[in-house]
Amino acid sequence: MIKKRIAIFISGRGSNMEAIVRQAQIGILKDCCEVVLVFANKREAKGLETANQMNIATASIVSKGKKRRDFDQKVLDFIRPYHIDYIVLAGFMRIISPIMISEYPNRIINIHPADTKEFKGLGAYEWAFENQLESTKITVHYVDSGVDTGNIIEQQTVDLKGTTTLEEIEVRGLQVEHRFYSEVLQKVFSTVS
Ligand code: GRF
Repeated sequence: MIKKRIAIFISGRGSNMEAIVRQAQIGILKDCCEVVLVFANKREAKGLETANQMNIATASIVSKGKKRRDFDQKVLDFIRPYHIDYIVLAGFMRIISPIMISEYPNRIINIHPADTKEFKGLGAYEWAFENQLESTKITVHYVDSGVDTGNIIEQQTVDLKGTTTLEEIEVRGLQVEHRFYSEVLQKVFSTVS
C-alpha cells in the first residue's frame, strides 16, 4: 500500500496529534500513512514542540488578523510542496474556507468531542458536564465549510457515568479520542486509493 502523506493541523496542546504521530511511527497507522508536517495557526501552540521532539517537520502561519480566505490561500501555497493527501485537524480552531475544501475534497478530517448532530462548536465537554450527560459521542467527520457540519465517518460512545467534574469528563473523553481517531484514520486510509 502506498502510504498517505498527511499534515496534522493544530492550534494548541496537540494531544491528539501526538497520539496520531505515535501510531504512524510505531503503531496501527505505520503501514498506511506518514505524518509529513504538523502545522499550527499560532506560533505558541504547545503541540509544535511535541512534534519537533518526535522528529516531525513543523510550521506555523499566524492566522490572527488575516481574512479567512487570505489565510487559507497562504496555507495552501505553503503546504503544496509537501504533496499532502490528507489534512487531519486535531484541535485546529479555525473554520476552513471553500478554497481549501475544494483543493482537498473529502480529504480534510476532524475530530469533535460530541455528537455533531447534537452539539457543534467549542465547549463540547462543558456542554456534557453542564447537562450531566451519562454519555457522549466522539465524532470523526469530513470537514466542509461549516462548523462541525461535515459527513460523519464514525462515532464512539464514551461512558460518563460516575464523573463529577469537567476535568474527569475531559480525561475520559480524551482517552477515547486518542485511540479512536487513529482507528478511524486507519480505516479511511486503508480503504481509499
Ligand atoms: C480535542 O478535544 C478535540 O476533539 C477538539 O479539540 C481538542 C483538542 O485537544 N477538536 P488536543 O489539542 O488534541 O489535545
